Parts: sequence; structure tokens; C-alpha cells
Amino acid sequence: MVSKRVYIFDTTLRDGEQSPGVSLNINEKLEIATQLARLGVDIIEAGFPIASEGDFQAVRTIAENVEGPTIAALARIDPQDIDRAWEAVKVAKKPRIHTFIATSDIHMKYKLQLPRETVLELAVKGVKHARQYTDDVEFSPEDASRSDLDFLCQVVEAAIDAGATTVNIPDTVGYATPEEFGQFIAAIRRKVSNIDRTILSVHCHNDLGLAVANSLAAIANGAQQVECAVNGIGERAGNTALEEMVMALYTRKDFYDYHTEINTKEIYRTSKQVSSLTGMSIQSNKAIVGRNAFAHESGIHQDGVLKERTTYEIMNPEMIGLVQNNIVLGKHSGRHAFRQRLEELGFEVDKTELDKAFTRFKSMADRKKEISDKDIEAIVEAEIRRI
Ligand code: KIV
Ligand code: ZN
Repeated sequence: MVSKRVYIFDTTLRDGEQSPGVSLNINEKLEIATQLARLGVDIIEAGFPIASEGDFQAVRTIAENVEGPTIAALARIDPQDIDRAWEAVKVAKKPRIHTFIATSDIHMKYKLQLPRETVLELAVKGVKHARQYTDDVEFSPEDASRSDLDFLCQVVEAAIDAGATTVNIPDTVGYATPEEFGQFIAAIRRKVSNIDRTILSVHCHNDLGLAVANSLAAIANGAQQVECAVNGIGERAGNTALEEMVMALYTRKDFYDYHTEINTKEIYRTSKQVSSLTGMSIQSNKAIVGRNAFAHESGIHQDGVLKERTTYEIMNPEMIGLVQNNIVLGKHSGRHAFRQRLEELGFEVDKTELDKAFTRFKSMADRKKEISDKDIEAIVEAEIRRI
């Protein structure tokens, strides 16, 4: 049987950039978007154009320059927001407008101060407005997982009738648990009569550490798109971690009959690049991309792995592009080997940056016999990212 496709919608540059303390400039965003295209994500949410002139320009630059994935721009449901999103994204080969309004009683009462009927009306108007521009419109009922199910289904059905081609169900505050969220998605599929006319998506936050588990449960119950961020960055505790989601489906394809089109060999490099440009370090024991993810400390484990890798390794590190470093860098190493290792670690440097980093590397190599990947990362941090 052919396994079903799951679309990967990457929101590193939008929700990811909403991580406290993270602010990327246009060049950095373009660098990340280019790498995301290489990674093979289906959709890049490039930003929220109404938020600032910088966000607008970044979305526009990505739309102009990055080919392959669909490029999405976020907008609240009002026409001005949608116009601005379209203005930024329209130059893309495959543009998408992603528009949202909250549907939970708590958000409608305190934040929007609008009754249900008005929210329903605005959702329909907004989706129709976006459809004037493009036939690729995503609609999100914000805080869906805390919304009244019948009202949520009413809004979703109306949004699809108005032309939404993707409907995204956000667990905005990371409140859901896997069984419950799976049942929630199944109920939406059952109750919304026109659901087959749209792609059903989920967007999970990680406040309880359950974003990946909730997304998996959603897929098992009929979701076809998952919204993720590299290294799981995003508002508060972040979003579904792209690398975990993709590798869970890949590694457990014996159980899950779903696949993505992600080039898993680009995962490690993408993770390093995002960490380096956002300044958000990756915890050592982070699944898939943490420094310890493939390290074996205990004697029993080391012995097992030496005899047969699969005794204690469920994934081959090469599958995420973690190339074993056969070349030991030291004082006799040249610029070429140094540059190659930088690239393998996800650092793209121009000539000036390479010169600076190489000089520092040589002086470190005079003091230390072998230069580790950690040393190289420290050199890059010191010489390149902080200038
Ligand atoms: O968490 C959320 O609800 C969002 C929406 C804008 C999709 O980020
Ligand atoms: Zn979010």
C-alpha cells in the first residue's frame, strides 16, 4: 500500500521568530528560507507583513528569491492585513495567504470582544477577500483546541464554503493532550460536511511538551499538514519541532503509514544554521539534533554499539546529515578542509569571514592538538556572528 503524504509547513520565520529574544534581519531570513527550500519543506511561512516594514520586506524578498516551496504570509482576518500580506507574497511562484481569527469563548470575550456571529461573519468575509487574490488560502481558527466544538465546526465549514483551501487547527496555548487532540481532529473530520474539499492542518504549541505527540495523534486521525519550526522554536515553549516530527514518521514508518518529502540529510545543517542565526542554543539532550542525541556514555552501551549499531541506535546519524568526521582538524590542516567542515556544520561564510575564522583556528591549533566541532562552533560564534 502506498503511504500517505504529510505536508510540512515550516513556520520558523514567523512563529519561530516570535521566540522571546529572537530577531532576524532580511539577509538572515533569506539564508534560512533558502536552506528550508533545500530541506524540502512544502510551505515556508515567511512572516507577518503587517507587523512591520522589516517583516514586509523580508517576506517580499523571500517570495522573490526562493523557489520550490509555497511561500505563505500571515494576516489577521481584516482586509487591510490581507492586502498587505498579498502585496508582500504575490511575487512568489506559489503564494499563499494564511489568515486567522480566534474562535474560543475566552479569546472572543476578552481579546476580540466580539460575539460568535460576528466572528463567523468576519471569517467568511476575510477568506473571500483573500480568495480574490489567490486560490491558495489557509484559514486558522485561533485557539481552536479550547473552542466549543460545534461552533468551531460551523466556522470551519463556512470558511471552506468561502474558499479556504487549507484549514489549520491550532492548539495555540499547548493545552491539548495526544488522545484528546486526536479525537478532536477525528470529530472535526466527522462533523464538517465539506472537509474533504480542503487540506486539514494542525499547529501545535509545546507548553506541556506535547506538540510532536499531539501532531502525530492528529495525523493518525486525518490531519494532512503539520506546522513545525526548526529546533521547535516559537512563542513561549515553542512549536512542533520539525526534525522530531519528520524523523518520527521516517523512523516509525513500520507503524505510521505516512511520509514527508523532506530531505532528511539536510536536517542537521538546517538545525545548526537556525541555532546560529537566532542565537538560540540547542540543549544537549534535544532529540535528533542535540549534541548527545547520538552519543553513548555507558560502557555497556558503547560495547553494544561497537558490536552492532542498532543495539542502542534507532536512527542512523547519517540520515540527518550528521557526517562522521573522518578528517581530524589540527595545525596542519588547510583552509579547504576547514571550510568544508564549516559547511558540514551548517555555517556559510564569505571570504572575509573565512579569513578571520581561519586565523583564529590556526592560533587555537597551535595550543591544542585536535580541534573539535565544539571548538569550531566557538570560533564561528566569536569571529563571525558577533561582529
Ligand atoms: O498559535 C497559533 O494559533 C498561531 C496562529 C496564527 C496559527 O500561531
Ligand atoms: Zn502559533
